[in-house]
Amino acid sequence: MASTAVIGLQWGDEGKGKVIDSLAAEADLVVRYAGGNNAGHTVVLHGEKHVLHLIPSGIFHDHALNLVGRGVVVSLEHLAQEMEGLQARGLPVQERLRLDGRCHVIFPYHRHVDRLAETWRGEGRIGTTGRGIGPAYADKVARTGIRLADILHPEYFEHRLRAALAEKNALIAKVYGDAPEPHVRLFEESRALADRFRPLIVDGGELLRQADRAGKRILFEGAQGSLLDLDAGTYPFVTSSWTGVWGIAGGTGFPPNRIGRTYAVAKAYSTRVGEGPMPTELHDELGQRIREAGREYGATTGRPRRCGWFDAVAARYAVELNGLDGVILTNLDVLRGFQPIRVAVAYRLGNRLVRTFPAEVGVLPDLEPVYEDLSGWDQDVGGARRFQELPQPAQEYVRFLERQLGVPIERVSVGPDREQILGGEHARTDLWPSA
Ligand code: GDP
Ligand code: IMO
Ligand code: MG
Repeated sequence: MASTAVIGLQWGDEGKGKVIDSLAAEADLVVRYAGGNNAGHTVVLHGEKHVLHLIPSGIFHDHALNLVGRGVVVSLEHLAQEMEGLQARGLPVQERLRLDGRCHVIFPYHRHVDRLAETWRGEGRIGTTGRGIGPAYADKVARTGIRLADILHPEYFEHRLRAALAEKNALIAKVYGDAPEPHVRLFEESRALADRFRPLIVDGGELLRQADRAGKRILFEGAQGSLLDLDAGTYPFVTSSWTGVWGIAGGTGFPPNRIGRTYAVAKAYSTRVGEGPMPTELHDELGQRIREAGREYGATTGRPRRCGWFDAVAARYAVELNGLDGVILTNLDVLRGFQPIRVAVAYRLGNRLVRTFPAEVGVLPDLEPVYEDLSGWDQDVGGARRFQELPQPAQEYVRFLERQLGVPIERVSVGPDREQILGGEHARTDLWPSA
């Protein structure tokens, strides 16, 4: 057993791309299992920024194979663009990338329905990324979806596409009153794209199980965050997939009891993009200061991220749900100069103290965070490479979060660059299970 999972603890954008890239140096395979190009995972190499949406964040290492697992929804046009972008930077993407034939495909009509549904929701809108994620997963569950491997069989594909389009166009025209999707070229274009990907299409589960038997190190890369999970998150303000550790087996074909270690990436404060409750959100100048200090603008849509203090109640909930072995804390450097630094350790609801994350979305906006204040620091911590080099209050802050979370903080990231990461106070040598 030699696999490790790294997922998002909060509402996404915790710095998974950066952490996965740094761990991928020791991995044989890096695997996405959920979401689609709603994700935006940033990897900064020697000052140069790369944003990945579908391709796993291990792609910059020459020895690792990167698999898009069967639970990912794939836009063919987007995948082609992303591959071309990396190839233009000299990366041999074809050699390093594999796609599971069971992945469901996002077609243009899914994006169209995503946009129309958001408009239709009005005030109740989710604030989706508009990438067609929800409608593509809805089709999968309704069994009207089309998988990557299906496109390789022209007759079957034509039959499925015709049926799917007839239904979507009826919905678009008759329910939403919009112009139906032109589809003259969709069949040919999808076939041409899928043909380009043909050499990369594999049975991903089989590949992973074989690699596991051979003692290879597999790194599972979460997308989104635990609080955006379809079931565990702040429903309906969630994404349409299982983002947590529980999504890995379903989204890959890798048995759950073979996942050796599980970690989550957590930001040293909270951010959220899109709508939905966020108990520690700061609507004032302080929130704006965090946004500017952390350059908190979405990697996928460019939207300003909502910012606030670390929410230990929500974080503890996610730690417990995922059964984590530890946490990797990012963006500690961003908190430089804030005095005090606050952490929500409970919520108040009327005169009741709430210590667990409630399920009812109706209750969440009424929760008043109960804060504990910690001392800040003024030094730049971006150059630190050992925990002991951090200023005393920064060390104290990490220790405080560790106690709140109930699991060790194994790594602390102090800047966007690959090199800017250090071991926790009691640094284990690595985050891999012994094989
Ligand atoms: P992901 O979706 O979890 O991969 O995260 P994103 O890439 O969407 O957003 C994280 C942002 O924070 C990116 O711009 C990263 O380059 C940046 N980042 C990651 N770790 C750190 C860190 O420790 N400090 C700072 N200042 N930025 C970081
Ligand atoms: P990474 O992997 C942050 C949010 C959207 C919206 C909700 C539903 O970069 O952390 P969707 O398009 O998925 O139907 O939108 O989920 N969302 C994310 N927020 N990071 C992400 O991914 C996200 N992926 C989706 O903003 O609120
Ligand atoms: Mg992101």
